[in-house]
Amino acid sequence: MQNVLVVGGAGYIGSHTVQQLLKKNYKVVVVDDLSTGTRASLSQQIEFHQVDILNFADLKKVFSQNKFSAVFHFAAKLSVPESFPKHFEYFDTNVVGTKNLLKLCEEFGVNRFIFSSTAAVYGNVQSALVKETDSLCPQNPYGLTKQMAEALVVNQASIQKDFKYRILRYFNVAGAELDGSNGPRNLNSGQLILNLCRSSVGDRVVKVFGTDYATKDGTTIRDFIHVVDLAEAHTEAFKCLESNGNSGVWNCGYGQGYSVMEVIKAFEAANGLKFDIRLEPPRQGDPAQVVANNELIFKESSWRPKYNDISVICKSTYEWIKNGIERK
Ligand SMILES: NC(=O)c1ccc[n+]([C@@H]2O[C@H](COP(=O)([O-])OP(=O)(O)OC[C@H]3O[C@@H](n4cnc5c(N)ncnc54)[C@H](O)[C@@H]3O)[C@@H](O)[C@H]2O)c1
Repeated sequence: MQNVLVVGGAGYIGSHTVQQLLKKNYKVVVVDDLSTGTRASLSQQIEFHQVDILNFADLKKVFSQNKFSAVFHFAAKLSVPESFPKHFEYFDTNVVGTKNLLKLCEEFGVNRFIFSSTAAVYGNVQSALVKETDSLCPQNPYGLTKQMAEALVVNQASIQKDFKYRILRYFNVAGAELDGSNGPRNLNSGQLILNLCRSSVGDRVVKVFGTDYATKDGTTIRDFIHVVDLAEAHTEAFKCLESNGNSGVWNCGYGQGYSVMEVIKAFEAANGLKFDIRLEPPRQGDPAQVVANNELIFKESSWRPKYNDISVICKSTYEWIKNGIERK
């Protein structure tokens, strides 16, 4: 049985990936400082270490106690607005934290690295469908730190013998396990579907930023991917690296864009709700459209999404949040 390390595994996407890894019979060890994640998102049987990735000595202990076949690295700070005033903290966690993990991979001979990146590295996207090879021009410190971390991962492959990586650039992640076993626990990311969930159990007011974009209805267009499909992209990435696949980058999105207004309508229809919509000026640096060209992941892997349906994404997220509120 292969032993893998999931860093940031108590967070939203990390914990869903842990579930997929367990289903595929990997032994999983999780490192997380619980700054935004929670132990409750993981089964009690998991070997868990509450460690900050900036604490090199404690991180090293985890590597010395285990022989890992791969590191899945999710741990990061990820709020775009927060990344402006806190750019040093973002640099430390997202860049220095990644450097620490890579150093330990080198020291302990861990040769497979799967890294969580983001469409924010592209910045002001000009093409209808953004490709992995398009130029990177992040518009905020969060995206910039992810681009820097990507560069460290890529460079590592040129110095560490047999080291292979897969960088996954996620688009907008939402959704929850359909059996209600896991879902998002932090509703403060600013992401539209999570905002709708928060508002739906509160004042039912939703703010729409910018209505004059050159899009079908004037609001911004984004690509939403269900968290379980995204988790499966990670197990698929590892499988491909293990079966002689090359290192590289995959966009993780469905290649289908929904405008803010369309998502609000889909959320209302899926959950039988109605929002009071407030129109606001556009936010700085918000591109009109960010949708993935996902040909590469389809070509290079056998990943095939199962939940490519905006109403499933909206419904599963809301059900999870609503049931959590009702449990309190
Ligand atoms: N959620 C999205 O829509 C989205 C989109 C694009 C990319 N991403 C990327 O996906 C990854 C996971 O995001 P998420 O949505 O699951 O967020 P999350 O906040 O739920 O998960 C991040 C996890 O990392 C842990 N962590 C943070 N700093 C740490 C540190 N210094 N040491 C150890 N652990 C630390 C947190 O406690 C948390 O459990 C991030 O790298 C993020 O940049 C997320």
